[in-house]
Amino acid sequence: MLIRILKSLIVTLGCFAAISLFAQTPPVDAEGHQWWQHAVFYEIYPRSFADSNNNGIGDLNGITSKLDYLKDLGVDAIWITPCYPSPQVDFGYDVSDYENIDPMYGTLKDFDHLASEAKKRGIHIIMDFVMNHTSDKHKWFIDSESSKTAAHRNWYVWHDGRGPGQPPNNWLSTFGHAAWKFDAKTGQWYYHYFYPEQPDLNWRNPAVEKAMFDVTRWWYQRGVSGFRLDAVDTLFEDPDLRDNPVLPGTNKYGDPNMQDKYNTKLPELHDVLRELRKVADRHGAVLIGETWTKDIDELKRYYGDHSNELQMPMDFLFARVDKLSPGEFRKQIAGVDAAGWPVYVLSNHDIVRAYNRYGDGQHNDQIAKVMAGLYLTLGGTPIMYYGEEIGMENNDPKSQEDVKDPIGKIGWPKEKGRDGERTPMQWNDSTNAGFSQTAPWLPIPPSYKTRNVAGELKDPDSVLQFYRHALALRHQNAALRDGQYVPLNENDQNVLSYLRRYKDEAVLVVLNMSGSEQKVSFDLSPQGLGSARPATLITTMSSRPQDVQLSQITLEPFGVYIAKIAK
Ligand code: NOJ
Repeated sequence: MLIRILKSLIVTLGCFAAISLFAQTPPVDAEGHQWWQHAVFYEIYPRSFADSNNNGIGDLNGITSKLDYLKDLGVDAIWITPCYPSPQVDFGYDVSDYENIDPMYGTLKDFDHLASEAKKRGIHIIMDFVMNHTSDKHKWFIDSESSKTAAHRNWYVWHDGRGPGQPPNNWLSTFGHAAWKFDAKTGQWYYHYFYPEQPDLNWRNPAVEKAMFDVTRWWYQRGVSGFRLDAVDTLFEDPDLRDNPVLPGTNKYGDPNMQDKYNTKLPELHDVLRELRKVADRHGAVLIGETWTKDIDELKRYYGDHSNELQMPMDFLFARVDKLSPGEFRKQIAGVDAAGWPVYVLSNHDIVRAYNRYGDGQHNDQIAKVMAGLYLTLGGTPIMYYGEEIGMENNDPKSQEDVKDPIGKIGWPKEKGRDGERTPMQWNDSTNAGFSQTAPWLPIPPSYKTRNVAGELKDPDSVLQFYRHALALRHQNAALRDGQYVPLNENDQNVLSYLRRYKDEAVLVVLNMSGSEQKVSFDLSPQGLGSARPATLITTMSSRPQDVQLSQITLEPFGVYIAKIAK
């Protein structure tokens, strides 16, 4: 009898553990890690991932059809950039309804199907939360602009001009020209940090906070595991509307250079993040920040003084180390490691793809492996960008007429826009790279014939196979997930080396960031591993050496060597 009771208790507890996989209180491992700390995230730009209905634009059912690929690759969470109803001026970052799906991407039913299929595979869904602004076609703004006494007037930032035809101050939109638009009907100006079609919400109004927090609750109920917070540093503006300091020179739009002192990074935004975090915590959710910071101190603030703001502020300082410089990477890694849980990103839909940024034009595949070998073996949580795993390259527009992203039209030719890094995923060598049977919304580079998922799966030396191995290793190896970062040979200007040390285990990572052969040696006695021998885990060396001595490792140009160190 006792045995039977015990058995049923075990079954019940087992079920409970399974249910709690995505339930309100996040399960933690024995060392207190939450799921997102051991997860690999993957950003999907839905227009460009997979097109299920062959209209040239990707959609939710397309994403669902690729879940097995993602699972197999080693992805644990997908962040989907905005797929809500939108006039698509900024390709979804102008939201006209936060609680629905744009028909071009499918329906809420399709979303629920995606969510349930993802859950079956243990893949979490992260939505994009466009908090700073709505579309000018959102019902709140339509009411707001209807009259000075409208119920939603104070949901946006309206002001009188300084004089006839003069905006309230000198603030500029980050997408070019004045950040104020005059509304003839009510005789006032509204503020937009991005396009005029993206009016800024007034976060000083508690009704805005309530409505926006409710949006997150609504999606949590639908099963999402968190949000990526868009443009988080632009939430507040100086209530006195002080002019920003003007700097020498002009920017790519021909406007005066300016320091965004009074309209970005105001301290009030941290109050909102703390409150938003409370809501997230009630749902066991994770908050990821689009946190462009000038230094580590600024990044550190986004975690909150008591780890009570963002769990995952993205470290773009890492992506800004735009050259293969071991010294600069060492500095950045040490800085973010000390600041909080690191969140490494190489590419996204707003910046040139890593393949082009780091590539030298000759060894791009090797360099792509060096960069993957770096950020997939560091601590913290990596966020991949779709296509990065096959070494997809930017395909920038050749002329202004071809540009789809409005900033590329406004700023041409200095600013070509972001189309280049948003082109369709290259699945195979068939028409339109297997993305769609119709001409896609953005052109696919001819190189897709050889650079595509199907082809790279067959090639043991492909960038994709390197990613698959590195991700599998990361999932299996406790040192790679939780080990302490120990920099090695810190004066080496060509080779970046470190240990990930965890209890009695260690993984050695050696990355040749130069185009010439390098010889390195390691003395691990200060780490108590003086007599240890390396066992190769991953290497790009053509000889595939098994018997490597720590006293002399020879690395080919842009070579990667990753080994387990055992006493
Ligand atoms: C940041 C997004 O990543 C970008 O694509 C968008 O244009 C702006 N925020 C405005 O929402």
